[in-house]
Amino acid sequence: MIDVMKLYWKLYAEWFSNEQLLSGFNNPVKDYSTESTGKIIDIGCGQSSYLLDFLDSNFELFAIDTDEMQLNYLSDRVKESGYEANRLNYSSNEFSSENFKDTFFDAIIISNLLHFFTKPNASDFISQIKQHCKTGTLISIIVHSEEHLTSKNEITSKSYFKSFYTKSDLHNMFPKSEYEYLYYAEKEKLPDAYETEFLKHWINELLRGIYDNKQIQKEQEKYFKKSRINSLELLVRKR
Ligand SMILES: C[S@@+](CC[C@H](N)C(=O)[O-])C[C@H]1O[C@@H](n2cnc3c(N)ncnc32)[C@H](O)[C@@H]1O
Repeated sequence: MIDVMKLYWKLYAEWFSNEQLLSGFNNPVKDYSTESTGKIIDIGCGQSSYLLDFLDSNFELFAIDTDEMQLNYLSDRVKESGYEANRLNYSSNEFSSENFKDTFFDAIIISNLLHFFTKPNASDFISQIKQHCKTGTLISIIVHSEEHLTSKNEITSKSYFKSFYTKSDLHNMFPKSEYEYLYYAEKEKLPDAYETEFLKHWINELLRGIYDNKQIQKEQEKYFKKSRINSLELLVRKR
């Protein structure tokens, strides 16, 4: 993970308590699950609100993130919630079918991960995931949409974000013949007042000692011109 984002997630861990993450959190997997036991995996989990929301369930929970630092923050959050850190199974290996041979999940969560993959790689990744679905498995997916782009030039093979998605990309990955569509939303969100303070603080911490206050303020203003988040959210159930 690039240093700019390392600092972001460090500050995120400091600024957002578990209570804040879970207050008003919309967990469609919980809403639509017909099971009360089984296995739930969050891939690219970060400091997963989903897994925190499932701590008091009987599900076996799997947290996958290639950044160990994120898994450490998540395990701190688990302890803060009053559970043993090992309430979750953690792995910093990339998800692979090899590591989960013969394992079938009741729910698979992929939130804000696929923009790190090129579209062909995302399709390969989803194909691997599908090998771990059974009839009834829920898949919850959140991706940045093409509306998120301010300029197509932002995407190159070297850019931080590798792809942005359309509704038809999701339909191609999850054909309706194989998946029942339970929930679909297109969202556009600006940071709220607290998130704005958080983002200003992050930029300030990044640039302190490099720029003077006036330059930092200019950089913050520049950032907020592009801080809108456009996403697509989909919940499907394997037929
Ligand atoms: C934008 S964050 C999303 C965190 C969380 N899922 C959410 O929606 O708030 C993306 C996370 O994916 C992790 N990540 C990036 N590439 C990954 C990969 N190939 N496999 C697993 N995790 C990955 C990053 O370390 C980061 O914690």
